Amino acid sequence: MGGAKKEVIVCRCEEITIDEIREWIDRGCDTINELKRILRVGMGPCQGRGCHDIILRELSRWLGTPIDQIEAGTVRPPVKPIKTGLLASEGGEPAWSGKTGQTS
Ligand code: FES
Repeated sequence: MGGAKKEVIVCRCEEITIDEIREWIDRGCDTINELKRILRVGMGPCQGRGCHDIILRELSRWLGTPIDQIEAGTVRPPVKPIKTGLLASEGGEPAWSGKTGQTS
């Protein structure tokens, strides 16, 4: 058990640690969108589902601001992963579901 400092990863997709987030909050970032622009947190494959709430909580704690007063950040659809075919479908059926592969 040495004195090695433990890194705490907050955004696993972009491999961003809590120390990096705190450093940028200290430098003046006070919204999740600013942290996104600088660190790319919330912009990985999970689109922030793994880190968004943790970062909001950290902003709230570090700034001493109630979490409901922290800007929640921009969310772009789709808000959860979906198959591309579903986007092109009508009524829940993929548009190319026929044997010929023709679209309806
Ligand atoms: S954990 Fe942050 S974008 Fe996936």
